[in-house]
Amino acid sequence: MKIAVINFSGNVGKTTVARHLLLPRMPGARVISIESINADQDQDPQEHVIRGRQFAELQEYLQVVEDVVVDIGASNVEELLALMRRYRGSHEDFDYFIVPTVPAGKQQQDTIATLAELSRIGILSEKVRIVFNMVEDGSDIQRVFDPVLAFVSSSPVARISLECRLGSNEIYGRINGSGADLSALATDPADYKALIAAATDSTERLALAQRLATRRLASGVVPELNACFVALRLNENASAPEAKPKQTRARAVP
Ligand SMILES: Nc1ncnc2c1ncn2[C@@H]1O[C@H](COP(=O)(O)OP(=O)(O)OP(=O)(O)O)[C@@H](O)[C@H]1O
Ligand SMILES: [Mg+2]
Repeated sequence: MKIAVINFSGNVGKTTVARHLLLPRMPGARVISIESINADQDQDPQEHVIRGRQFAELQEYLQVVEDVVVDIGASNVEELLALMRRYRGSHEDFDYFIVPTVPAGKQQQDTIATLAELSRIGILSEKVRIVFNMVEDGSDIQRVFDPVLAFVSSSPVARISLECRLGSNEIYGRINGSGADLSALATDPADYKALIAAATDSTERLALAQRLATRRLASGVVPELNACFVALRLNENASAPEAKPKQTRARAVP
C-alpha cells in the first residue's frame, strides 16, 4: 500500500501520522520524508523543495516498492501537487492520501484548500481520508471541526469517519525525532518501581521515573492509534487501478 500524508499546513501532524499511526501498522513499509524547510534551519531551504527530477525519482521509486508512506512537508506540498498535475496520472501511484487536520481555524482552511486541490487533480474521494488530530478530551468533534466537515458535506472530496481521531498527547513531543516505536514503549517490560527503589542517585531515579511516565503515556495512546487506523479502513479501496487483493497485510497491532 502506498500512502501520501499531505496538507498545505505545517504542524498538523503529518510526520506524527506517518511515523506513529501508519508505519507501525503497515508491515514492511518505510517512510519517505519530503521534508519541510522548517525542519532544519541551517539547511539551504532550496535543498528541501522537491524539484522535477526528484519527483521523477520518487515516481520511479513508487513503481518498485510495495508499501511506503510519503510524508510531504508543508513547504513541498504546492510544488508536489503542481508536479502531479504535470505528470498526468502520477497521483495513481498512491492508494491513499491522508490529510491530518487540527482544530485551529487557519489549519482547517488550509485543510479545505488541500482537499479541494486533491479533488481538482482528479483524486477520487474514496482515496482521501482525514485524520482529526489534537482533539481535546471531551470536545465535540462535530463542532470543533465544523469548517472541514461542512466543506466535505457540500463537496464530497474525502471519505470521513469521525473515529479517525487522535487526542492531544504529550507522548508525541517526548519521543519526537527519537525513532521510538510506541508499541515497544508501551510493552517495555522493565520493573521501573523496583529499579527506582534500587537506584542510588537522584539523577538515575529521575531518568527511570521519566521512562515509567513515557511507558504509561504510550500504553494509553496505542489503543487510540489502533482504533484510528482501523477507522481509516485502508483496505476497502477497490478503486486503485493497481489494487490487488490485500489479504491481511494492513492490520492493526493488537
Ligand atoms: N496528537 C498530538 N498530540 C500532541 N502533540 C502532537 C500531536 N500530533 C502532533 N503533535 C506535535 O505537534 C508538532 C507538529 O507535528 P508534526 O511534526 O507531526 O507536524 P507536521 O505536519 O509534520 O509539520 P511540518 O509541516 O512542519 O512537517 C510536533 O511537535 C508533534 O510532536
Ligand atoms: Mg513533518
